[in-house]
Amino acid sequence: MSEEQADTVIYTVEDGIAWVWFSRPAKRNAMSPKLNRRMMEVLDEIEYREDVGVLVLGGQGTAWSAGMDLKEYFRETEANGLRGVRKSQSESYGWFRRLRWFQKPTIAMVNGWCFGGGFGPLFACDLAICSQEAKFGLSEINWGILPGGGVTKVVVDLLSMRDAMWLTLTGDLIDGAQASAMRLVNECVPADQLESRTAEVARMLLQKNPVTLKFAKDAVRRVGLMTYDEAEDYLVRLQEAMNFHDKTEGRKEGIRQFIDEKSYKPGLGAYDKDRAKAQS
Ligand code: ACO
Repeated sequence: MSEEQADTVIYTVEDGIAWVWFSRPAKRNAMSPKLNRRMMEVLDEIEYREDVGVLVLGGQGTAWSAGMDLKEYFRETEANGLRGVRKSQSESYGWFRRLRWFQKPTIAMVNGWCFGGGFGPLFACDLAICSQEAKFGLSEINWGILPGGGVTKVVVDLLSMRDAMWLTLTGDLIDGAQASAMRLVNECVPADQLESRTAEVARMLLQKNPVTLKFAKDAVRRVGLMTYDEAEDYLVRLQEAMNFHDKTEGRKEGIRQFIDEKSYKPGLGAYDKDRAKAQS
């Protein structure tokens, strides 16, 4: 039976959180061209929804994602020559990039298998929480290619050189606890706590000024390649741009609630953004 594109990624929005699911459990959520196209549509649909403050990316079934679909992404597109290959690459790289710079903070919630090309969306998400049942691997070496797309860059950016090299050359599987120790993910939790812990982290982010979240996540991704002086200059200007974009003037309100009202302590939590100037 042919697979409907709409079924390859599903989502719900609940209490400010968009729960987006890779949804090809029978194929271990391998990323096919249909899935890649559907994911871009989903990101389009939710990015600027006012009732979405955080995106969580999870996987249905036993996998988060078994990487690119070896049949539909590689073999079948190669049959269409260079045009086919480039088209499917642009579709997958396109939504990975879209997710990297997504307007809202994003959390990878890794429940199971995460292979090869799956490291692309893993890296694209700002934070990552995995289950103790999760298993990560760069299996490409096992069938004779380089880590898919930008994945070599992903592991070099995220990990130590030794760990990046180990995963790349051996194709060894690591479990959730190892992934957390290696800092491939922020946290590893028991499987039955994966969704509740992820929701808790998402709710923590929902308390923060949404304009600041977007500027802050972009800053972390961009400063890595800058010299210190370039970064300092960029960050000063970024803060000034943020002051312009935040029509609620949140930072003034944050100071007011602490200094004048004494209603919160910035060292211990966020100011009440719902009492800031209404957005225009
Ligand atoms: N591409 C295409 N189909 C896949 C993929 C994939 N990456 N992963 C799983 N499937 C399919 C299988 O072919 C199988 O299909 P079928 O039921 O029609 O025969 C189905 O999903 C279930 O797979 P099984 O292997 O039976 O599932 P199992 O739970 O035993 O194993 C595992 C899961 C370990 C993930 C295994 O499927 C696997 O090794 N997959 C390939 C992982 C991989 O190397 N990914 C990286 C690709 S390279 C890249 O991303 C750039």
